[in-house]
Amino acid sequence: MRVVSGIQPTGKPHLGNYLGAIVNYVKLQDEAVAAGGECFIFLADLHAISQPHDPAELTRNTREMVATLVACGVDPAKTVLFNQAQVPAHAELQWLLNGTARMGWLNRMTQWKDKAGKNREGQSVALFTYPVLQAADVLLYQATHVPVGEDQKQHLELARDIAQKFNNDFCAEDAPLFTLPEPYIPPTAARIMSLRDGSAKMSKSDPSEMSRISLSDDPDTVMKKIRKARTDPEPLPSEEKGLNGRAEAINLIGIYTALTGKSTAEVLGEYGGQGFGAFKPALGEVLVETLRPINARFTELKDDSEALDAILARGAAQARESGGATLDAAYRALGLVRH
Ligand code: TYM
Repeated sequence: MRVVSGIQPTGKPHLGNYLGAIVNYVKLQDEAVAAGGECFIFLADLHAISQPHDPAELTRNTREMVATLVACGVDPAKTVLFNQAQVPAHAELQWLLNGTARMGWLNRMTQWKDKAGKNREGQSVALFTYPVLQAADVLLYQATHVPVGEDQKQHLELARDIAQKFNNDFCAEDAPLFTLPEPYIPPTAARIMSLRDGSAKMSKSDPSEMSRISLSDDPDTVMKKIRKARTDPEPLPSEEKGLNGRAEAINLIGIYTALTGKSTAEVLGEYGGQGFGAFKPALGEVLVETLRPINARFTELKDDSEALDAILARGAAQARESGGATLDAAYRALGLVRH
């Protein structure tokens, strides 16, 4: 079992990152250790330069993201925790895979279409080839399980297509180089929506702070954001089918079930027939209690940049070692002479 996933160190991590991905980094890290496998979690800092960014902020966010991941339970003793920029094999393998990826495949990526909008000509080349780097990230370590939210599913499918084409084009049939990675997407909370708009994803780039719960929000802020979260005026239904077409209610109940482990039926059994005035404070409390230990640990870690850098340096050394054989094999398969 090889677990591999990445998170961009841009902006403050939020509840969508936590429930969609980070919770599963921790779960799969423990499963990998128990199964004698390995877990690699990295900060996708190379991906972060695909859009306009402030260099000083990227450096600060990188350290803060390490502190956040450790505060959430990613354990550097169990997981190889590092940043891409310290492992040149990611960028090298991306270049090798650029020879295999097709323009048409990248043109179909919904994230590219959403981020570029009508101004494709004005985007960086990195934003367009971003999914090839993401494929390199997971193929380098022969990932089997890739914990991600729903929005990354298409990128993972592309990684499989690239792996398959490379294996077909350059490897003997009985000796494929790359393992085809499987996305590991949570059954609930795969797509946490904005608190202001039930049809938009909760996102670091939403200009409204009120649209998301940041993992560093204090209890008053959490309670305020939940109190002000957009809802419809109807009371909660007693049965699941009564949620049809009620995106905001589905989102809030989804967050509650993901945090408590209760089923939707149980939650509706408790709150059905009551207004959001009763449900929202309960949801706020659960969130505050989830974030309390994360915040406490984050505060302890965040200013010790030496310790945070040491975690990244150690992880990067391990990652360089682990990815070396696959990178060498990829160069060889392509007939490139390097000695
Ligand atoms: P990023 O940094 O946008 O998000 C990190 C993880 O959080 C998940 N996520 C969500 N899950 C549920 N609801 C949401 N509203 C929500 N918002 C974000 C994402 O699905 C992701 O799992 N391209 C990736 C980073 C990356 C990567 C990789 C991931 C680079 N290389 C290789 C996996 C494997 C990204 O930008 O994630």
